[in-house]
Amino acid sequence: MLRESRTVFSIKMKLNLQENGFKNVGLLIKPNKAKKLKDKIDYFFKNNLNLGPAVNIKNLAKSQMFLNGESRKKFDKEKIYLNKLDFEKGTKFIRKMTNGVSIKQPILNLPELINICTDLKVVSTVQKYFQTKNLYIGYVKVRRFFKNRLPEFDTNFFHYDDNGKNLVKLVLYLNNINTKNDGPFVYVINSKTNKPKIKQNKINKYMIPEKEVSKFYGKKLVKEAYGAAGTGFLADTIGFHKGVKNTSKDRYVVYINYVTTREYKGKGENLKISSRHLKLLKKNQQKLFKFFEVV
Ligand SMILES: [Fe+2]
Repeated sequence: MLRESRTVFSIKMKLNLQENGFKNVGLLIKPNKAKKLKDKIDYFFKNNLNLGPAVNIKNLAKSQMFLNGESRKKFDKEKIYLNKLDFEKGTKFIRKMTNGVSIKQPILNLPELINICTDLKVVSTVQKYFQTKNLYIGYVKVRRFFKNRLPEFDTNFFHYDDNGKNLVKLVLYLNNINTKNDGPFVYVINSKTNKPKIKQNKINKYMIPEKEVSKFYGKKLVKEAYGAAGTGFLADTIGFHKGVKNTSKDRYVVYINYVTTREYKGKGENLKISSRHLKLLKKNQQKLFKFFEVV
């Protein structure tokens, strides 16, 4: 009886940022717009334009598969990242070397993202969540993840982000993510404030093994995010999350970080926005780009 009522609860449970740290915001852009963005990313790949960085997984030891951005800084950059010569060999080559490649300066190179970043529904939801109007975009990442035979790496494992105190990520799919093989984003509900105290078996400060997640939270709290191209999700990524490695096809995702203070206390890379685009925005939208360099 108890089991039954629990099941009903889980089906009816409407996920929202306030209570669960996770929300499906539905279609943020129409699928044809998502396709146009994806095509533009493919064009960059075809012409080796605006690409980088990408970790050279082939050059890493097995024990380095868990390394996050910060700990990678200790290593020789030349060995960790694919270099110019590698990129010149083309997509066929690099897709065998790395899990994914980011687009450089995404707001300059894909200005259509500005409308998505400033989406009123998204911005007001996050403002309400943090109970402040002082909301900013901390970082934007556009990534193409390759279908390949490389092992799971970095954010394919459950972790929580260390970028700052307040962080909500918008995860926007640019291709359909319908099955586990397509590589859904996965969020562990209620995991921001409720984390297991693991002494052994912890991978690093921010990362725990899959089996510890299932043991502590149970399957019902592990939410896989499925949606058509153009669908967005908001997640408080100070809670546990990961991206499943895609094995069916390449996966295209835009990540937008909403913060209240500068990420990594301002030590990270500065993103740029052109003054031409900034001027077109309303004052309250312009404010979101406070941490950007205007060029
Ligand atoms: Fe993350």
